Amino acid sequence: MFDAIAARYDFLNHFLSAGLDTRWRTRAIRELGLAPEARVLDVCTGTADLAIAARAAADGVQVVGVDFSAAMLTIGRQKVRARHCDRGVFLVRGDATRVPVRDGWADAATIGFGIRNVAEPELALRELARVVKPGGRLAILEFGEPRIPGIRTLYRWYFQHLLPRVGRVVSKHDSAYSYLPASVGAFPPPDRFAAIMAAHGFSGVRAVPLSFGIVYLYVATRR
Ligand SMILES: C[S@@+](CC[C@H](N)C(=O)[O-])C[C@H]1O[C@@H](n2cnc3c(N)ncnc32)[C@H](O)[C@@H]1O
Repeated sequence: MFDAIAARYDFLNHFLSAGLDTRWRTRAIRELGLAPEARVLDVCTGTADLAIAARAAADGVQVVGVDFSAAMLTIGRQKVRARHCDRGVFLVRGDATRVPVRDGWADAATIGFGIRNVAEPELALRELARVVKPGGRLAILEFGEPRIPGIRTLYRWYFQHLLPRVGRVVSKHDSAYSYLPASVGAFPPPDRFAAIMAAHGFSGVRAVPLSFGIVYLYVATRR
């Protein structure tokens, strides 16, 4: 699916979120508190927006981005080259549950809107716990649902009706943008997902609502 929509993915991200996606990623990277020369693993890196943002956070940051969609990575590599960060961002094709990085390599890890897509998210969390060194940071962005009743009703209409139609027309893919609200609906609620993170090697887990809870930023420290 991601191979099929890769060409329109970035445009639709920015258009359908009215540009908020850039702010959500910036906020996630800020939570990592990256020092110069820090090493970051970005799982489900897609077209590498989060990887590129991590690279820009401090001097000499090294980022490995992993994704199993070749087409998403191709666009990511073009962006990495265009932004002259190919010395610090390395994109690798691979699975979130078997990352080609040694134990304790990373000072921090990120997943942007990807954990919901992984068939076995617990396995991916276990893999991140292996790769992130004790005391290292984890930031995960994932869609949620606003809690304020009026905003929630409006957002549901947008997310479940308007967004799939616009997504279908622009991406020319029949189901990708219907899959989005369906997969968000199937994802655990924030407190449950925070508990899953805590059960897989991370402490001090916080679930921070962004933009009224349209998105949650989960932050934690490797035990
Ligand atoms: C919604 S995109 C997010 C891309 C990017 N992180 C962002 O913030 O825009 C989800 C990505 O997760 C990748 N993905 C899903 N399951 C995966 C897995 N098990 N291993 C590696 N990548 C996976 C998809 O190929 C896709 O590129």
